This record gives sequence, structure tokens and C-alpha cells, in this order.
Amino acid sequence: MRLVFVCLGNICRSPTAEGILRHLLREARRTDIDVDSAGTGRWHVGEPPDPRAVATARRRGVTLDHLGRQFTRGDFAAYDLVLAVDVPVARALTTLAPPEHRDRVRLARSFDPAAPPEAEVPDPYYGDQAAFDQVFDVCMAACRGILAAFPPVTSRG
Ligand code: 4NP
Repeated sequence: MRLVFVCLGNICRSPTAEGILRHLLREARRTDIDVDSAGTGRWHVGEPPDPRAVATARRRGVTLDHLGRQFTRGDFAAYDLVLAVDVPVARALTTLAPPEHRDRVRLARSFDPAAPPEAEVPDPYYGDQAAFDQVFDVCMAACRGILAAFPPVTSRG
């Protein structure tokens, strides 16, 4: 399965979620899910993640290794799941999507069974360290939920 996390700038929230899910997949020795991230905006294309997001993840043992990329209409064909960090991003993606791929757009936190409906990953860009810590925590819970929602297909033999 191929999935992509999408935020606004692709330097804070979606690279954090991508890094966490890669980390959890590696820990679980799973290779059945491909993870990527992108932004709806183009301000930070080609840039590494925000140093505050990198430092926050690093303290929790997660490496962020990504360069900013803008999500395009053509990307819908390449991913089974397009996971928006918040409602405005989900709306922008739904508007951008070819009609047959609209149902690929979901809120990332909808995979966290403890999160309320429509729960969002709050934008930390103008926030403090607590905001970045919160992003990490809610992304971790969402990523654990994603792994649980798509258990590995084991082959018997
Ligand atoms: P992100 O955070 O969407 O989590 O990457 C932001 C990064 C940059 C901007 C906004 C949000 N910006 O306005 O440049």
C-alpha cells in the first residue's frame, strides 16, 4: 500500500508523520507500506523539514529525512491513501482530486481510535516547542492507528 501525508508547507506536520510511520514500520520489520509526504503549498519546495520539527523528532528517536514537495493532481493516481493533517487541507485535496479518486482523501487522525471525529494536527509553524511536541504526539497516535488498521498480510507456506 502506498500512502502520503499532506500538510500545508510540507516542512512540519507531514514530514513528522512520515518520519514516525517509517520508524514504526522499520521497528515492526514491515515493508508492505510505502510512505511519503507533500504539501498543498509551494513555498518550501526543495527544503528540508523545519529545524524545530527535526529536533523534536530527533529527541524521540525519529529521523526526518525529506525534501519539500508540492502535492499535485497527478499524485492521486500514485497513492492509495492521501492523509490530510487538517480539515482545510482535506478540503483543498478533495477539490483538487479527480472525481474517481476523491475517496482516497482522509484525515490522518481519523486512524487514531482515541481521537474525536474531525480531529486535526494543529499547525505548529507560529507556535512554541509545546506545539511541536503536540504535533509529534498526535502523529504518533495516528501512525500507530494506521499500522493497526492495515495489519501485515502474512503468507503461509
Ligand atoms: P506545515 O506547517 O504545513 O505543518 O508544514 C507550515 C509550514 C509553513 C507554512 C505554514 C504551515 N507557511 O506558511 O510557510
